[in-house]
Amino acid sequence: MKLFRKNILFAPFVEEMCEATANMYRLGWDERNGGNISYLLDEKEVAEYLDLTKVIRTIPTGFEAKALIGKIFIVTGTGKYFKNVEFDPENNLGIVRIAEDGTTAELLWGYADGGKFTSEFPAHMMSHMARLEKDPAHRIVMHSHPTYTIAMNAVCPRDEKDFTHKLWQSNTEAIVVFPDGVGILPAMVCGTNEIGQATAEKMKDFRLVVWSNHGIYGTGRDMDETFGLIETVEKTAEIYMLTLGHEPNVIPDDILKALAKRFDVKPLAGILD
Ligand code: 13P
Ligand code: ZN
Repeated sequence: MKLFRKNILFAPFVEEMCEATANMYRLGWDERNGGNISYLLDEKEVAEYLDLTKVIRTIPTGFEAKALIGKIFIVTGTGKYFKNVEFDPENNLGIVRIAEDGTTAELLWGYADGGKFTSEFPAHMMSHMARLEKDPAHRIVMHSHPTYTIAMNAVCPRDEKDFTHKLWQSNTEAIVVFPDGVGILPAMVCGTNEIGQATAEKMKDFRLVVWSNHGIYGTGRDMDETFGLIETVEKTAEIYMLTLGHEPNVIPDDILKALAKRFDVKPLAGILD
């Protein structure tokens, strides 16, 4: 008997990838092929759509990800434009499983034109490992190039606590949405294992990491939470940049403390105390 499988183009996780990339493009965050997303999937759910014994091809990753062996991800393709994903998911996205050796990705679907996963695959997979250690419910790594976040990072000291404080002071939502703050990496060569390792190290403490002069990484349990983190940083950075050079009335620390109390969040230590 032939097993009936559902059409993957209507899978919720494919639709979520299409929706997120389209929104990121239209918000002006991800020019050309800028940005990438990876999403840890549930094996049983994927099996409703794909025969998991059928590997289309294998792709070496260039690093070891032992903790992810057997795990399945949907990932944006390298060089692919976010504006095109919703119209052609099968060429612009791929579903890969980390093979038994921990250093190979098995392609189960997508990258139909012969493509492969994002050049930032090391940063994504290493960040997944770091976040899963902290939170077993973690699922998403999202990388983006939002304009005001990059601009604010360019004009502010590269100090995580100072940068986080400036964001919190500019918008009451900020401390509520990211009480754990924002990590910062210096300008580095992207698309390497080194930036992947440095990002994952930051991900031990932060769900948000700015790549100086480049963009931001956000992580979360689902697409909305992850998107919302980056969206709130970007909106707040926009407010910061629009008021820079003026004398803005920022949120005083006692109000920030009261906000944290009201919304029951624990602010990153060493900023308000
Ligand atoms: P990819 O096209 O390889 O995903 O790279 C885009 C990017 O944002 C690099 O940091
Ligand atoms: Zn980038």
